[in-house]
Amino acid sequence: MGQFDMVKDFFLGISRSRISLIGGMIVTVTTPFLLSYMLADTVWHIKNPYFGAAVYLALGPVFLGGLAMIFVGAFFFRGERDVHLFTLQYMRRYFTEPDMFGRLRRNVFLIVLLTSVNFAVFSMFLYRAYHYMESTQFCGQFCHVVMAPEHTAYENSPHSRVSCVECHIGSGADWFVKSKISGARQLLAVATATYPTPIQTPVHGLRPARDTCEECHRPELFHGDKLNVTKRFLPDEQNSTVHDVLLMKIGSAGDRAQSSHGIHWHVAPENKITYRATEHNRMVIPEVTLTKADGTTTVFRTSDADELLAGTGTEGDMREMDCIDCHNRPSHIYLQPDEALDRKLAEGDIPQELPYIKQQALEWITADYETTEVARQSITDGLNSWYKEKYPQLISDQPELLAKAIEGVVKAYSENVFPDMKVTWGTYVNHISHGPDFDIGCFRCHDDMHESPDGKTISADCNTCHTLLAIEEKNPQILKTLQGDDL
Ligand code: HEC
Ligand code: HEC
Ligand code: HEC
Ligand code: HEC
Ligand code: HEC
Repeated sequence: MGQFDMVKDFFLGISRSRISLIGGMIVTVTTPFLLSYMLADTVWHIKNPYFGAAVYLALGPVFLGGLAMIFVGAFFFRGERDVHLFTLQYMRRYFTEPDMFGRLRRNVFLIVLLTSVNFAVFSMFLYRAYHYMESTQFCGQFCHVVMAPEHTAYENSPHSRVSCVECHIGSGADWFVKSKISGARQLLAVATATYPTPIQTPVHGLRPARDTCEECHRPELFHGDKLNVTKRFLPDEQNSTVHDVLLMKIGSAGDRAQSSHGIHWHVAPENKITYRATEHNRMVIPEVTLTKADGTTTVFRTSDADELLAGTGTEGDMREMDCIDCHNRPSHIYLQPDEALDRKLAEGDIPQELPYIKQQALEWITADYETTEVARQSITDGLNSWYKEKYPQLISDQPELLAKAIEGVVKAYSENVFPDMKVTWGTYVNHISHGPDFDIGCFRCHDDMHESPDGKTISADCNTCHTLLAIEEKNPQILKTLQGDDL
């Protein structure tokens, strides 16, 4: 036998087994591509979701499959010449016969080298593949039609630099595994087109917010009030600017220095709030239970609670309140038509100088369209013809004004409405407020109708949560005072 017997036998074994041979070919062909792609990704952090999918979901597994085939073939499907590769007798001979052991020792270097190269490629692959599967590109863009609403809203939100997994998975191995199982289910649903449109909310398997939001935010350290100044625009000829000025009583979840109070009182460790909803969507909450640290409980119920909960089984949909019961849209924030246009006007994407643009745009973006393309066309045509008829002089003098407005209006629509996924205005309710009709968000509980046995109610007093300093005022005195204009 020659010097590199074991290595030679190994290759012989491979060449004699068709399975190994095919595996060998696969590995030879894929390795240079895989290595150079992974290197490119490591250096340049390639953001294209399909590049990642091609490398980590297709090429990588093919490479691993090839490797596996080589070994399976060499072990189990030997060819005409029985090479006994890696069998017990073969090993025993190598380790007991001094002559052969000497040869093995000489080959150790080669074996160690080959194994470490394999190990390096393999672990680099696992590492990069892990990062890809956790990336916003994979979660948000790979299934682009399905995730378009969530991804678009996310991109425009204050959390656009926080990756999807930081809220949806968080840290720890158990949630990682859970997420991969549900991820596989979701990929299957996309592949077989059995996903719901729109995607259901709330997310019932969502990790408790304590493990995600609180990795970054600490409501026990909040304090004081927060001034919210919102610019709005009226549907009149001037698109007049008005202001809402609210002092939000943010409060605190309580820390050593201060006791819990205000809005974040709900998430203080000493206050545990559980509630029962009539349906999975948590829109109607007939019963709320407050459990204090000393164990005393107060149950607040509406007068029709028994009736409402009767049809829902014995429990109702029971849940412990956390951040998500108010901040259910921290990142996927869909605006109402009015708000969406106000934002674009405030940011200058829609020029305020264009008469009646708020009123006209509101009409066009709230109509029903089959696709975003149809919407874009109809909005463009509709606004063009209206302004040509009513303001021909203005449109011929300053055509860019209308062109810019149309761009802004189409954006206000396409950032919030996604006909492909049946997401339209109001599909996803935001619970951080109560809405103009006082029926969602805080008012699911704070309606003065939830009563404890001793007659206390969950307060609907307008000053519980905020002080209304100005509502839709053109020149609010409070802003002049704050800006020092009246000194
Ligand atoms: C700041 C935290 C946060 C980030 C970042 C985030 N999400 Fe979410 N997401 C949520 C919360 C909270 C909900 C659930 C709302 C509920 O249960 O009412 C949600 C819900 C969803 C839903 C269910 C449909 C819906 O809108 O309720 C999908 C799908 C989703 N997210 C995908 C994504 C994707 C994709 C990304 C990354 C591009 C992402 N999320 C990033 C917090 C986040
Ligand atoms: C990885 C860190 C991280 C996680 C996790 C995270 N956030 Fe944030 N959040 C931030 C940062 C950073 C900002 C500030 C963004 C800015 O000011 O532009 C922010 C801002 C906010 C704001 C203020 C938004 C505004 O309009 O000014 C709220 C409310 C909020 N987060 C709630 C949540 C909730 C609820 C969760 C859990 C579902 C969450 N965050 C998870 C980092 C995080
Ligand atoms: C009872 C409802 C409610 C709960 C529960 C709640 N929040 Fe808030 N939070 C609010 C409201 C309302 C605001 C003010 C929003 C605004 O700017 O108008 C707010 C503001 C915030 C802000 C912005 C603070 C600032 O100074 O700008 C952050 C961050 C935040 N919440 C994080 C959290 C986290 C994390 C949790 C869970 C531990 C949580 N909240 C639980 C209602 C709630
Ligand atoms: C699931 C029910 C529920 C929801 C939803 C809810 N709350 Fe509450 N809230 C309560 C209960 C219960 C109390 C305590 C009532 C009592 O003991 O008088 C309370 C108390 C408060 C208090 C007084 C805290 C103190 O200092 O004692 C504020 C402020 C408040 N809530 C704000 C909000 C805001 C803002 C929202 C919406 C963003 C909201 N709540 C949503 C149940 C709820
Ligand atoms: C349980 C807490 C709570 C109570 C009670 C409450 N609000 Fe609000 N209100 C909020 C929150 C939270 C917001 C949202 C602030 C934001 O968007 O930043 C809000 C916003 C508003 C706005 C601004 C418009 C908007 O939708 O952004 C107005 C106006 C308003 N409230 C009026 C009232 C009036 C009038 C009452 C009394 C009938 C009342 N609120 C009672 C929590 C409350």
